[in-house]
Amino acid sequence: MGSRLPPTRVLAGELRVSRGVVTEAYRRLTEDGHVEGRRRGGTVVVAAPALPPPASPTGHAGSIDDSAPGTLFVGEPGAEVFDALRAVRARVDFTPGQPDLAAFPRTAWLRAERAVLTGLSAEQLGYGDPRGAPQLRRAVAGWLARSRGIRVEPDEVLIVAGTAQALTLLHPVLRAAGIDSVAVEDPGSLGTRQHLANGALATPPVPVDDDGVRVDALRATGARAALLTPAHQFPTGVVMSGERRRDLLRWAEDGGLIIEDDYDAEHRYDRPPVPALRALLADHVCYAGSVSKLLAPALRIGWLVPPPRYRDALTEAKRFTDLGNAVLPQLVLARLMDSGDLERHLRLLRGRHRRRRDAMIDAIARHLPGATVHGAAAGLHLTVTYEPQVPDTDLAAAALARGVKCQPLSWHRQLPGRPGLVLGYAATAPGAIAEGVAALGEALRTLGRTARTGTSPPQVDPPA
Ligand SMILES: Cc1ncc(COP(=O)(O)O)c(C=O)c1O
Repeated sequence: MGSRLPPTRVLAGELRVSRGVVTEAYRRLTEDGHVEGRRRGGTVVVAAPALPPPASPTGHAGSIDDSAPGTLFVGEPGAEVFDALRAVRARVDFTPGQPDLAAFPRTAWLRAERAVLTGLSAEQLGYGDPRGAPQLRRAVAGWLARSRGIRVEPDEVLIVAGTAQALTLLHPVLRAAGIDSVAVEDPGSLGTRQHLANGALATPPVPVDDDGVRVDALRATGARAALLTPAHQFPTGVVMSGERRRDLLRWAEDGGLIIEDDYDAEHRYDRPPVPALRALLADHVCYAGSVSKLLAPALRIGWLVPPPRYRDALTEAKRFTDLGNAVLPQLVLARLMDSGDLERHLRLLRGRHRRRRDAMIDAIARHLPGATVHGAAAGLHLTVTYEPQVPDTDLAAAALARGVKCQPLSWHRQLPGRPGLVLGYAATAPGAIAEGVAALGEALRTLGRTARTGTSPPQVDPPA
């Protein structure tokens, strides 16, 4: 970035092509936002293009054109959209939902794995309890008591392959209970909504305001279950207020089931922990958590603490799905939890994530001065919203063309609302965060100018 392109006359001479060919190439680069004409400064590179995607990701819907990653943001996002976005390489990746994976505690994991293998009996390598290894269920019960205020017996914990699987296991169980509709927050996670919809469950949207999900609107949907993120609403970052929690608990006591998605509650910076709803109303809250934001999504380990009446049916669903999670990673994780290594790792992550969060807030103040930042006190991402002159899908596409990957807020909406971007910062170094946000600011300014004037940005050829 910042390099100056040679004057068209010089480059045309060097390449032995007409000056018109070079001028046309510069014009296209300008329109795509890769270079900018700066009068006396000539034509300057302002953004490197996104790297071409690797070999075509398989199994994607034909609607995604791998040679034009910007088409990702055209139309309603389908189930394949996350795979397709992941497959596109970019200089700066603000995809939300990842902790700093470079900090994965490899040494502690290896140490724990060696210790587990040393002590492992031959019998433990056979088929196990579909609810999960007893050691991990005990360790998770301890972890939940320490970090989330939830007091449960190990027998109440079901080990699953992440929240994604927890939701899938719930499909038949909810249906058997006569529930065919699970209300979701709006905005709310597109991914978890897709997991519900995949089980043919309706997902009526319920607006979120500064106090959390609106319980009056939840009541109005008539849904008997709701998937909620009360500790750190995804994607707005709102913490559900005390009054709203009390109202929600009254809704649950009247027969509603809360599916509590506690996806990143351990990550908080400027505020005290918020106890989980499961700690307050065990009979009406089905609690789901995972190590995806603590260690790595690739481990595919999570836990479900259902109300007692659903426990057997969920164990049955887990048995018929896969006979239980792989045992070795369960035992290693149990050891990391029991030894305090996981807690130490979390403390290390907090410091790193906080610095990255601060770098992103600084960069937003500098490069997106009109934008509003939401939910920066906790988690691994923040959300920015801005004045509605530019659709956020256009902005995400323009950002990708400049080598910056992020998700448009509208992906996570069913109801209309302000445009915005969901920006994960935890997995990106501060320098790259500053560079990426600068590119977002540039993209928004360029699109905003185009929206106002109805023309593409001018300035192609540097003065001779
Ligand atoms: C809102 C929300 N819930 C849950 C998850 C985690 O799912 P899993 O535990 O299956 O990795 C994510 C992942 O990004 C998420 O954004």
